[in-house]
Amino acid sequence: MAKTKRPKAKSRAAAKKTARKVVKLASAKKAAKKANGNGKSNGLPKPSSKPYGQAGLALQGVRILDFTHVQSGPTCTQLLAYMGADVIKVERPGAGDITRGQLRDVPGADSLYFTMLNGSKRSITIDSKHPKGMDILNRLIKTCDVLVENFAPGALDRMGLTWDYIHKLNPRMIVASVKGFGPGPYEDCKVYENVAQCAGGAASTTGFREGPPLVTGAQIGDSGTGLHLALGIVSALYQRIRTGRGQRVLCAMQDGVLNLTRVKLRDQQRLAHGPLTEFSQYGEGVPFGKAVPRAGNDSGGGQPGWIVKCKGWETDPDAYLYFITQAPVWNEICDVIGEPTWKTDPDFATPKARLPRLKQIFARIEQFTMTMTKFEAMDLFNQHDIPCGPILSMKEIAEEQSLRATGTVVEVDHPTRGKYLTVGNPIKLSDSPADVRRSPLLGEHTEEILSKVLGYSTAEVADIKASGAITAPDKSKAAA
Ligand code: COA
Repeated sequence: MAKTKRPKAKSRAAAKKTARKVVKLASAKKAAKKANGNGKSNGLPKPSSKPYGQAGLALQGVRILDFTHVQSGPTCTQLLAYMGADVIKVERPGAGDITRGQLRDVPGADSLYFTMLNGSKRSITIDSKHPKGMDILNRLIKTCDVLVENFAPGALDRMGLTWDYIHKLNPRMIVASVKGFGPGPYEDCKVYENVAQCAGGAASTTGFREGPPLVTGAQIGDSGTGLHLALGIVSALYQRIRTGRGQRVLCAMQDGVLNLTRVKLRDQQRLAHGPLTEFSQYGEGVPFGKAVPRAGNDSGGGQPGWIVKCKGWETDPDAYLYFITQAPVWNEICDVIGEPTWKTDPDFATPKARLPRLKQIFARIEQFTMTMTKFEAMDLFNQHDIPCGPILSMKEIAEEQSLRATGTVVEVDHPTRGKYLTVGNPIKLSDSPADVRRSPLLGEHTEEILSKVLGYSTAEVADIKASGAITAPDKSKAAA
């Protein structure tokens, strides 16, 4: 009988180690199983059995101290409110967010500027420079999860609400800020939308080559940065689940605009290796300079596009269509516009051959599209899978029923201005239907928040009211 060999000392130790590992793994699995209930969901609760859309909203339970004003910050907190967060907007007594009175269309009513950026929030008036006002803010800091602000640099600190102060009061608090610039030479500057568009590279690359830089109507500096900030906040909330602590979130408007203009930074680097062949100026034989030029309506990607006139363009400023000469459907394009020989003509048959002739090609396409409305053109080209899009006016968008059906455009009713349209949540969550409600009146929820959220008694609320911390300064007293 063969003698069983005793394992060598080294392999005995290795075997013990493996055995220990197996035991460890088994107990870890056991612990996970215990924590998860079913051992399959990685620490998550059991999947809800409620129908989709009835299990509460995504950010339910998150409370936000909203110190934002104008557009960038309010866009962010409005989105979070649509997602179910309880957003408490703090405003200066008697005045409120400056936009309440800006671009007013209905006398005495909050402007659309304000109402369309502050839906689904609650409003509390607090004078942050009043000692009792500071007491209320302290309580809010202790009860909220996130403070969002977009004051000018240094304003929050001047209120006494430094990061150290807030963090000490509530280590779980996330402090999220929009500023014009990040740390650097311009960090102390105040910034508005168009300044950000200019500083972030958008204006320099927008417009026609022969003209000055242009700003765009899309608020990429304000609303764009608000979007970035919202992502920062939800990420910080997620990280807090693991770490238990809050953090600062900063979005500089310059950075946000640059992020949205990144394709132009791509082109800046490509320029070092030769001309940008998809720009019309290449086809026109105009030399490139040192920086990415303005490209008019050229398509940003590798598929050349342009805006062409449609029927009615003489009187309707929006009777245009964006047309893309996508290479895979070139043959279909040639057939539809009535240039079948271009399919095989060496001057037109390949994308490379077409580049120097884009002007001629789009002129021919325009000759064709001018015989039909932009909607007829859209229908016709899409039957052949040719990518294009009508230039929709704001009037057409406001009246578009499919946008109402999806909740992207929502009509809400307001006590002083009546019905108005607002933009709902462009982000659709299948289990968290957007909560789009009208904007609050100035200080509409002050007493409700003081008593129900912060626990002040009726007598204390009366005392706070009398102190002037939540009410507008009495002008008659000031004059006397
Ligand atoms: N109670 C008492 N004081 C209040 C208050 C309240 N509830 N809310 C705000 N204030 C005070 C602030 O403390 C600050 O006072 P201080 O300057 O004496 O310290 C003051 O109101 C206003 O703040 P500020 O942000 O400087 O307003 P502004 O009108 O001068 O500047 C911006 C507006 C937008 C240019 C500036 O806020 C900014 O650059 N923000 C960052 C970038 C940004 O978001 N820009 C886009 C706006 S859409």
